[in-house]
This record gives sequence, C-alpha cells and structure tokens, in this order.
Amino acid sequence: MVEVALFDDSLISPEVQAALPAGYTLRPLRSGDYERGFLKVLEVLTEVGNHTKEQWLEQFNYMKQHNDQYYTIAITDDVNNRVVAAGTIFVERKFVHLNGLVGHIEDIAVDGHQQGKKLGLRIIHALMYIGAQRGCYKVILDCSDKNIPFYEKCGFKHKEYEMVWYVPQDKARL
Ligand code: ACO
Repeated sequence: MVEVALFDDSLISPEVQAALPAGYTLRPLRSGDYERGFLKVLEVLTEVGNHTKEQWLEQFNYMKQHNDQYYTIAITDDVNNRVVAAGTIFVERKFVHLNGLVGHIEDIAVDGHQQGKKLGLRIIHALMYIGAQRGCYKVILDCSDKNIPFYEKCGFKHKEYEMVWYVPQDKARL
C-alpha cells in the first residue's frame, strides 16, 4: 500500500527541522505510522485503545479529508524507524474576529525514553508555525499545573481556566 502524508510538507517549519538532533525528522503524520508506534507514543497521555489497522486508517482518512483542520505531526528516530514524539493543532473556524481562526494544540506526547531532549519544545514550535501559517489569530491549549513551566518555555502564558463535563458513560462514545 502506498504511504500517504496527512498534509503538505510546506507547513513544516525548516527552522524547527534544522534544530533537531542528527537522526531525527519532523514531518506530517503518515498512514504508515501505525507500524512506527505512533499510537504507542500517545500512551504517555492516556488510555489509547488497541486500534486495528482498519480503525487507525478510518481515523487517518477522516483527518486527511479534513486536512485544513487537522494537522498532526511526528518526530521520528530514523535509525530505528520509530515515531518518538507527536502533537496536533486543530484549526477552528469562528464567527468572532470576522470569521477568525483559532489553533488548538492537542495530544502532545514524547516517548518516555526520549523526554528531556527538547523534542517536546520542537513539536510545540512546529505546531505554532503551522498555526501562524494558517492565519490563526491565537493558539491555545489545556494542560496540568505540572506542565505550565514547559509551555512557558515554549512561549505560552497562563490565561483563565479549563472546565470539563464528562458525558455519562452510557451516552459517551468511548
Ligand atoms: N516541568 C518543568 N520544566 C519542564 C517540564 C516540566 N514538567 N517538562 C519540560 N520542562 C522544561 C525542560 O527542562 C526544558 O527546559 P530547558 O530549555 O531550560 O532545558 C524545556 O521545558 C523543554 O523541555 P523538552 O526537553 O522539550 O521536554 P520533553 O521533550 O520531555 O517534552 C512533555 C515535554 C511533552 C511534557 C513530555 O515530557 C511528555 O510527553 N510528557 C507526558 C505527556 C504530557 O504531559 N503531555 C502534555 C499534555 S498537555 C497537551 O497535550 C496540550
């Protein structure tokens, strides 16, 4: 099967790519990243689920059809051909700010053995670049107190609070 990229390479920051350690590549998510352990990397965040290849492709293909909204990126360790870090910026269309665009950063994950090498910082800077290239007027995210210093180092500042309502289990699509 031919491997497909989620979106065009032109949205990948050359500066961030150049700042990576030798042997690492920054690029859009690819359909073959199922085999390169993309979902395994997300396990540092929460329960991911045991996707079959078919379930993976269903989601990948949906995002590909909406690739003016979903921008998921990966950093790979090229010697081992593995995904080691990942993140997404979701571009939301709004009425306010005259049909403005807001970038939502989601699901930032660095493999447990690769943390502390600035890969997380590179992922965030690469997503900020995509948000700016797409014309977002702001880029926002939710995080735990523990991660506030990390996001401050990436150039974000604290503003307001997150609220959540969990849909009752019998109604939620889990
Ligand atoms: N507290 C204080 N400083 C931190 C922390 C922290 N928790 N994490 C990183 N930093 C600092 C680093 O020391 C470094 O500082 P320096 O420039 O002075 O040396 C700077 O932030 C950059 O750190 P990186 O090496 O890029 O961090 P890393 O690659 O480990 O990625 C991340 C950070 C994404 C939080 C990673 O540890 C991880 O995947 N954690 C588990 C999952 C998680 O919490 N993801 C974020 C969820 S929030 C969301 O998705 C919007």
